Amino acid sequence: MDVLLLLLALMVALPSLSVVESRKSPVLNSFQYCAVSCRAYGASLIDFGGVGDGTTLNTNVFQTAIDHLSQYSSNGGSQLYVPPGKWLTGSFNLTSHFTLFLHKDAVILASQDENDWPVIDPLPSYGRGRDAQGGRFSSLIFGTNLTDVVITGDNGTLDGQGELWWQKFHNGELKYTRPYLIEIMYSTDVQISNLILVNSPSWNVHPVYSSNVIVQGITILAPVHSPNTDGINPDSCTNTRIEDCYIVSGDDCVAVKSGWDEYGIAYGMPTKQLVIRRLTCISPTSAVIALGSEMSGGIQDVRAEDIVAINTESGVRIKTAVGRGGYVKDIYVRRMTMKTMKWAFWMTGNYGSHADNNFDPNALPVIQNINYRDMVAENVTIAATLEGLSNAPFTGICISNVTIELAKKAKKVPWTCTDVAGISSGVTPVPCDQLQDQGPEKIGACTFPEYPLPIDDVEVQTCTYYKNF
Ligand SMILES: *[C@@H]1O[C@H](CO)[C@@H](O)[C@H](O)[C@H]1NC(C)=O
Ligand SMILES: *[C@@H]1O[C@H](CO)[C@@H](O)[C@H](O)[C@H]1NC(C)=O
Ligand SMILES: *[C@@H]1O[C@H](CO)[C@@H](O)[C@H](O)[C@H]1NC(C)=O
Ligand SMILES: *[C@@H]1O[C@H](CO)[C@@H](O)[C@H](O)[C@H]1NC(C)=O
Ligand SMILES: *[C@@H]1O[C@H](CO)[C@@H](O)[C@H](O)[C@H]1NC(C)=O
Repeated sequence: MDVLLLLLALMVALPSLSVVESRKSPVLNSFQYCAVSCRAYGASLIDFGGVGDGTTLNTNVFQTAIDHLSQYSSNGGSQLYVPPGKWLTGSFNLTSHFTLFLHKDAVILASQDENDWPVIDPLPSYGRGRDAQGGRFSSLIFGTNLTDVVITGDNGTLDGQGELWWQKFHNGELKYTRPYLIEIMYSTDVQISNLILVNSPSWNVHPVYSSNVIVQGITILAPVHSPNTDGINPDSCTNTRIEDCYIVSGDDCVAVKSGWDEYGIAYGMPTKQLVIRRLTCISPTSAVIALGSEMSGGIQDVRAEDIVAINTESGVRIKTAVGRGGYVKDIYVRRMTMKTMKWAFWMTGNYGSHADNNFDPNALPVIQNINYRDMVAENVTIAATLEGLSNAPFTGICISNVTIELAKKAKKVPWTCTDVAGISSGVTPVPCDQLQDQGPEKIGACTFPEYPLPIDDVEVQTCTYYKNF
């Protein structure tokens, strides 16, 4: 339909304009951005009757547009352009070989009416919703069983208008688990990039049971005391790359997960081959990177580097419990700069928090081969609290070339270690005896793998589109 409109416009223009000039106008109307794949067909939300006045509900417009565009899935793919405006909507579903693109002045405004949020089943690896038993509200932007989906923009905005949801959470008024801003489930080849996410009702970005996921250039802002406003939560995902993100939130900036207790063990789907780099995090009540607490499907091969943490409770934190089963192993973190922290490092086997009382008391988590190196921290209250389980000690912990400058009001004992084993080298203040000092010549002792993961090789290309609307 848009191509036809463009041709008509050119025919009208030709008699009075030179060919050169008439060619100019679509070029002036072009826009470019980077994506893993470009699309053959494009349309604007306006074409489907969208009204961006901030009060008209556009849920059906989004869904009709995407359902219509899904016909191009096997024919070059399609893009839905969201123009400047405030587009009030409830939850809608994406399709395959599809791009949702937000203009920099486009705001997708999440409805505060629960009727605009369909209730979907709990995640099989969790067995229940996190806020309430049973179902959960579908995310603002939801996709399931997709291949090749891109959500991007010139830093346009998703506004979750979370205030009302946070109040319902605090007042115990939630019948179902709060929605997330973006959830992509059972999908492969996913890109989420160049967007600003504000005031999510709960988690912000949740790729789950998916592979080949790139999250790039995302800014996430939520009040630092808002409940459960985690930034990016890769959950039972393989091959994920999170880079160049800036996150200020009321919960973990990145929380790596893989299911909860007996449900996560039965589902058995780990998060593995995860890259996190160039992340800036402010999270006064939580962690820069949390591993767990739901890790029952296992977490393996996580590589995090070039991270800046400011006014954050802990740097890396590993949370697990008896009954979780699963494992957290082969974790590599380097070049993290921390300013004003309660803990640089925290790990615990006593996190508790169970899905229900049917967890298996013999399902012990395995925590092994954890490597932290090349870090500087200042104004830190406690260097580290590392507490494993007496019947399942955390082993293979390696900390090298880490300088932690304690705060004036720091705890007298900077390191507390129980049921953990490992080595250290070139660490200040002097670590606990459980991390046997190898001497200053072993300052490079802790591993960081130099070979790339498959997701490192995925490149974005420049896509050019002509706005014929
Ligand atoms: C979106 O997907 C969910 C889960 O598959 C489904 O329950 C819901 O009906 C879908 N919504 C629409 C409008 O198709
Ligand atoms: C989506 O994929 C999951 C896992 O492969 C499968 O169990 C489910 O039936 C699929 N759903 C749809 C709607 O195709
Ligand atoms: C969008 O924001 C990112 C992260 O702050 C920034 O690097 C990028 O230049 C911005 N892009 C545009 C088109 O403004
Ligand atoms: C150090 O941390 C404390 C909180 O623990 C904070 O009040 C203070 O401003 C910080 N000082 C500096 C120099 O950042
Ligand atoms: C120690 O870490 C710092 C960064 O904090 C880095 O610049 C330096 O090269 C590292 N030293 C060694 C010997 O690896």
